[in-house]
Order: sequence, then C-alpha cells, then structure tokens
Amino acid sequence: MTLELQGCRALVTGASGGLGHAIARALHARGAKVMLTARRAEVLAQLREELGERADSLPADLSRAEDLATLAEKAGRVDLLVANAGLPASGPFLSFESGQIDRALDVNLRAPMQLTRALAPDMVERGSGHLVFVSSMSGKVASPASSVYSATKFGLRGFAFGLSQDLLGTGVGVTTVFPGFIREAGMFHDAGVKLPPWVGTRTPEQVAEAVLRGIATGRAEIDVAPLSLRAGGWVAGAAPSALAAIQRRLGGGKISSEMGEAQRSRR
Ligand SMILES: NC(=O)c1ccc[n+]([C@@H]2O[C@H](COP(=O)([O-])OP(=O)(O)OC[C@H]3O[C@@H](n4cnc5c(N)ncnc54)[C@H](OP(=O)(O)O)[C@@H]3O)[C@@H](O)[C@H]2O)c1
Repeated sequence: MTLELQGCRALVTGASGGLGHAIARALHARGAKVMLTARRAEVLAQLREELGERADSLPADLSRAEDLATLAEKAGRVDLLVANAGLPASGPFLSFESGQIDRALDVNLRAPMQLTRALAPDMVERGSGHLVFVSSMSGKVASPASSVYSATKFGLRGFAFGLSQDLLGTGVGVTTVFPGFIREAGMFHDAGVKLPPWVGTRTPEQVAEAVLRGIATGRAEIDVAPLSLRAGGWVAGAAPSALAAIQRRLGGGKISSEMGEAQRSRR
C-alpha cells in the first residue's frame, strides 16, 4: 500500500543540510507535515519559517542516544521517516581517531536503526508508513580514503534491505536511495573538489525526486547517479577488485584523497 503524502507526518533527519533541505521542501510541497531535525537549530528555524505552516523543528544530536529517544518521543506519530543525516567520514582509515570512527557509525548507521526501532512498530500497527534511508554510491563501491564512510553506507544498505524483507506484507515500505556526486549543495559540493569532466553529477532535487518515487512505487533501492557510476556499482558487486583497478587507472584515488582533506574538519 502506498503512503499518501497529503497530510502525512514526515520526520526528516539532516534537514539543515543540502539534500535534507531539498527533501523537506519536496515533501512539504506534496502536502506532508515535515518535522525537521539536525543539530543546528538556527538553520532549521530558517527552513521552518520559509515553509510556513506544516513545518516544525526538533533539534537533536543523533550521535547521542538520549537525544534519539527524546526526538522519537517529541515527534509523536510519524508516518514517514527519511533518515538522511550523515557525516562525510572521509580520509585514510589510519588517520581516524577512535572517537571519530564511533561518531560516524553513530550518526550514519546507529541513529537510522534506532529511530526505525522507535518509530516502525506504530507504523506496522497502523498497517501504513514508509522508511527511507539515504545511503550513497559509496554504499555499493568502496574507494581509497572512504573505508569508514563506506562501512556506514554499506551497513545502511544491508540493514534497510533486510528490514524491507522483515516488513513485507505489513503495509510499511522501505526504500534506500544511493546518491552519487551531488552538485549545488551538500557535502560533496561544500568540499569544493573538482571532478574530471567525464564524471557526471546530479542535483539535490533529483535526490528528493528519488525519495518521492521510492514512496510512490515501494522500490527497495534507487540510484541517483549517471550510468557510469551506476555501472560501477554493478561491477563492484560482482568483481570489487576489478573495479578498484579501473578506479585507480581513472584517477579515483586522487578525488578520494582530495575529499578526505577537504572534509577532515567534519569528522
Ligand atoms: N552530497 C552528496 O554528494 C552525497 C552523496 C552521497 C550521499 N550523500 C548522503 O546524503 C545525506 C545528506 O548529505 P548532504 O550532502 O546533505 O550533507 P550535508 O549538507 O553535510 O548535511 C548533513 C546533515 O547531517 C546532519 N548531521 C550531521 N551530524 C549530525 C549529528 N551528530 N546529529 C544530527 N544531525 C547531524 C547535519 O546537520 P547539523 O550539522 O545541523 O547537525 C546536516 O543536516 C548524507 O547521509 C550523505 O552521506 C550525500
């Protein structure tokens, strides 16, 4: 059964960020009441102001277990969870401090699982709801200087797909969205790293459209990336070492290490 967005109550995590803004705007435009969450209360307040009615802000730090519990309680009935918050967690593994690894796992993987645990039982009881997880093409392809990020995003993929099987027939849908490089806003854009001309990008609005499509069709997985990156995902699934060799030849290591440097302060 497809979730009706008009009048539904949607909790969007990472709503102060580039993709979160686009997702919240798209859901709001379809008539949803959006509950916006992230740490930066002032950015959430601006978006709430812009959206006007049917928008609320619930600031929370998703790396803190107590904030997760309070957030789920304050949100009340939630028909749609969009678990979009994430840290870039890029850079060579040995350059990470132990606490930075924990924070990336907490925000990118533990928080979506715990919010699902808190919110999904009521959805199942009502026989209606949808859970959307924002992973990444790094959840299908592991590259140099991305081991921590990929661990969280591969983990999110596995969690969400397994969950979708658990919830078959309950009326609650599960969709994972896999963005590639997103231009104009968000963590890749903010890093200011230049891509070779043959690597295509997508926009935050296309990620938001994928979220809407997932809810409307019930599709389990949707890539938001050009064919070349999506093909990389298929090859990586069957022959990861072959894809790694291709990436090395095409200079993928340089892009990854530049991203790691640019995003180091955000661990
Ligand atoms: N942009 C891309 O090219 C791209 C590609 C693939 C996947 N993705 C994924 O898309 C999602 C959104 O990314 P984005 O590009 O929009 O990045 P972004 O602009 O950096 O936004 C990240 C969001 O996560 C929130 N966040 C970070 N740490 C948090 C914490 N401890 N507690 C609560 N919220 C926290 C941030 O809010 P506060 O700082 O206010 O807390 C912000 O709203 C992420 O999961 C990312 O991995 C992005």
